[in-house]
Amino acid sequence: NAASKGTYEFYMLKEIDEQPGVMRHLSQDYLDDAGHPVVDKNIVDAMSKADRLYIFAAGTSYHAGLVGKDLFETLTGIPTEVGYASEAGYHFPMMSKNPFFIFLSQSGETADSRVVLKEANKRGIPSLTMTNVEGSTLSREASYTMLLKAGPEIAVASTKAYTAQVALQAILAKAIGENLANPNAKNFALKEELALAAEGIQQIVDGKEKIKKLADEYLIHSRNAFYIGRGIDHAVALEGALKLKEVSYIQTEGFAAAELKHGTISLIEEGTPVIALISDPITADLTRGNIQEVASRGASVITIAAKKLAKYGDTLVLPNIDYLLSPLLTVVPTQLLAYYASKDKGLDVDKPRNLAKSVTVE
Ligand code: G6P
Repeated sequence: NAASKGTYEFYMLKEIDEQPGVMRHLSQDYLDDAGHPVVDKNIVDAMSKADRLYIFAAGTSYHAGLVGKDLFETLTGIPTEVGYASEAGYHFPMMSKNPFFIFLSQSGETADSRVVLKEANKRGIPSLTMTNVEGSTLSREASYTMLLKAGPEIAVASTKAYTAQVALQAILAKAIGENLANPNAKNFALKEELALAAEGIQQIVDGKEKIKKLADEYLIHSRNAFYIGRGIDHAVALEGALKLKEVSYIQTEGFAAAELKHGTISLIEEGTPVIALISDPITADLTRGNIQEVASRGASVITIAAKKLAKYGDTLVLPNIDYLLSPLLTVVPTQLLAYYASKDKGLDVDKPRNLAKSVTVE
């Protein structure tokens, strides 16, 4: 039974561990043998006509959308905006001539997203809901649906739905890009990269004991923490921070690495944990500079770097993968840090206080 905890104490760890399988399923179900996406032609045609894509979501799904922006812009060449559904509903963004809306929602029930979708329908804007729940409200009311196929996600803190959203957006972006003859899409070896993602996630979860030790040593006694990164690493920093704070109650902020010095660095004290993510080749050295800035002010820095960018002394070195898919790997240690920080503080990992799995009020 996919929804049973089995031998796991908490669903959250079970769902983290399921991610290699989710990557393999998505690859099998949405890519053919030659590695070309298998996506409903109506969706590809409708999106190929768009002059701008707008992604709307909430919470972790919003963070997946931030990664989606890079995927869609790089692989399709279509400018893409990402917004909080809760904001867009009542302050509708200025529209291009031929917009297309993408709703990311694990549950397919988030009320904030539904407000935007209703307005889109009123205006005749075509839309797609990417969701984990077949027949959910947002999937029924949008023009098109794609399923995440991540299996039921029970823990309130979302993990496998996030990685599924990143992977499925990559598949969709490649499908549209190929249709538009975009060379980036053509050259993107997605099948191979998703295989690397599955193997890489497996390698990270197999090393979870080391991550537990980091959580115990640096996080559980701390009141606050920071995640920093640039480019796509910034998007993952936001998600890593949300994951840690929501389940461990350690106040955590995600930052664009260079922005810290414009104010927030004043919060860094002796021993403040700063987790730095390095998978963006363009800005890796600059982020190293920002690490120096916080380390010299006493921060305890945990550096998580892709192998090809790693330096001696980095705390965790992750397997190599295409930069566009790097969140599939970098997010996993952040999920595990959050899990162990919560569990080792004796908290109810799966049901943090004040939170609900899906929020059906605005
Ligand atoms: C709630 C959940 C979050 C989730 C967000 C969006 O706040 O606690 O984990 O990311 O809703 O949910 P959705 O189902 O739309 O992805």
